[in-house]
Amino acid sequence: MIHKADTPSPSYRVTGRNLGLELARVTEAAAIASAHWTGRGDKNAADGAAVAAMRTAFDTVAISGTVRIGEGEMDEAPMLYIGEQVGCGGPAMDIAVDPLEGTNLCARSLPNAITVVALAEKGCFLHAPDIYMQKIAVGPGLPEGVVDINASINTNLTNLAQAKKCSISDLTLCALERERHNDLVAYAREAGARVRLLSDGDVAAVIATCLPNSGVDIYAGSGGAPEGVLAAAAIRCLNGQMQGRLIFETEDQITRTRGMIRPDLDPTQTLSLTDMAAGPVFFCATGVTSGDLLKGVEHLNNGYIRTHSVMMRSESGTIRYMDAYHHFDPHRA
Ligand code: FBP
Repeated sequence: MIHKADTPSPSYRVTGRNLGLELARVTEAAAIASAHWTGRGDKNAADGAAVAAMRTAFDTVAISGTVRIGEGEMDEAPMLYIGEQVGCGGPAMDIAVDPLEGTNLCARSLPNAITVVALAEKGCFLHAPDIYMQKIAVGPGLPEGVVDINASINTNLTNLAQAKKCSISDLTLCALERERHNDLVAYAREAGARVRLLSDGDVAAVIATCLPNSGVDIYAGSGGAPEGVLAAAAIRCLNGQMQGRLIFETEDQITRTRGMIRPDLDPTQTLSLTDMAAGPVFFCATGVTSGDLLKGVEHLNNGYIRTHSVMMRSESGTIRYMDAYHHFDPHRA
């Protein structure tokens, strides 16, 4: 198992238990609800089902939670909006959610759709607006600073190959398949690396850098900022490295972001892992469609539904995989 030396925090000492296990019920509920829409071509319906199920399931979690990364502002989203209070009472925690990460993946029945929740103490998640974030990530066991979001992809691949004692041609870079990544992909290939392109789902892709059998050595490129914060929470637990930088299109976005984030942060600065997710964090995901990280929701012949989840906790560095069998007979007492 991987260990991370976090400073124990007062509220964690108060709770004294692994809230990640409780979170599994939340991500499982969202996964089962959205799995009904797998392959049906309706990403909004899949997302809506996940949001509603996740919101209801939070009622059973013993926290006083505030949504920090959610479905949008209060006037944009009926549930899991930023600032919404969730949980049935307990330690005050901040919550980051993506009820269905990879809405298109689910709608098209493609791999790697997951449901995601992360928890941290109050003020510990970057309050990221719904804009793009530049991201770079690598797995555990590498020298600190081996990759740098401000360096060229060539330099990063050279340094990574050196640290891994291999050649660049042994490395695989993962990125979202987007026109904006054409140069990144071309430069990485020119340097000799393999490139794995994904249609969607960069939370799972960032996590893949930390999974021994994923074949992914480095993630680079831009994707959603909220997804960046969720990925950072997982990377904290997995002891990998990640940096981010928010991408602004207007001055207004910069001003708005300045009012949202911690006062000591400049909206345009390079964001370290702990700028995005500080203190003890919990991360939990359940597979909707099967992928590198998790198997998807399975409907078994005996009427049960099987889900596959992963729970991680930065403080202990423990990573737990859990399979659950759910019986949904409405006539059952
Ligand atoms: P949704 O689940 O909201 O559809 O997001 C999927 C996703 O691929 C994310 O994983 C990623 O961060 C983002 O979209 C990339 O955005 P874009 O599709 O605009 O490039």
